[in-house]
Amino acid sequence: MLLGLMSMCLVFCDAKRDLKIKVLRASEDCKTKAATSDRVVVHYTCRLIDGTVIRNTYDKQPDTFKIGSGEVIIGLEYGMVSMCVGEKRFIEVPSELAYGEEGKPPQIPSNATLLFEVELLEVKRSFLESILDRKLWFIIYIVAGVFLILLVVFKCLPNLPSQKKKIAKNKKKN
Ligand SMILES: *[C@@H]1O[C@H](CO)[C@@H](O)[C@H](O)[C@H]1NC(C)=O
Repeated sequence: MLLGLMSMCLVFCDAKRDLKIKVLRASEDCKTKAATSDRVVVHYTCRLIDGTVIRNTYDKQPDTFKIGSGEVIIGLEYGMVSMCVGEKRFIEVPSELAYGEEGKPPQIPSNATLLFEVELLEVKRSFLESILDRKLWFIIYIVAGVFLILLVVFKCLPNLPSQKKKIAKNKKKN
């Protein structure tokens, strides 16, 4: 598990270093933060360095996608983690975390850095998901539960033979 966490960090922390994130507008009342596996509703513009607009959702409806599912480029997913509802961010995504050397012809050239301005409008989470999202608490509950079960099992079982022995000893004395 520790190895898993470490390797996740190797990928995740490295990626975070390459991203440039700037908060353009903070959320006044941050109640919900976007996390992996959240379904988010966003408005965004995506531009190339030279200013060419690749995508602008303000023209039509906001976009909806699930963070961590690969529906959008990984740089945008990483860049939005722990973003508040109501917050607006500038995210500069290097090509390695976007479309890489291949690009996405004809719109996105090879090795293109993408500039996003993202506004998080909504986080859609079911009740179960919101519980599961508190992963740490979930793990603590499970560990505590297992511990309790072990405690009960081991407290009861070894006592039975030792009590029998005691009874046996008492009988011998008598
Ligand atoms: C893209 O980047 C790679 C690796 O840095 C390089 O080998 C390649 O020539 C670049 N392609 C273009 C079109 O700039």
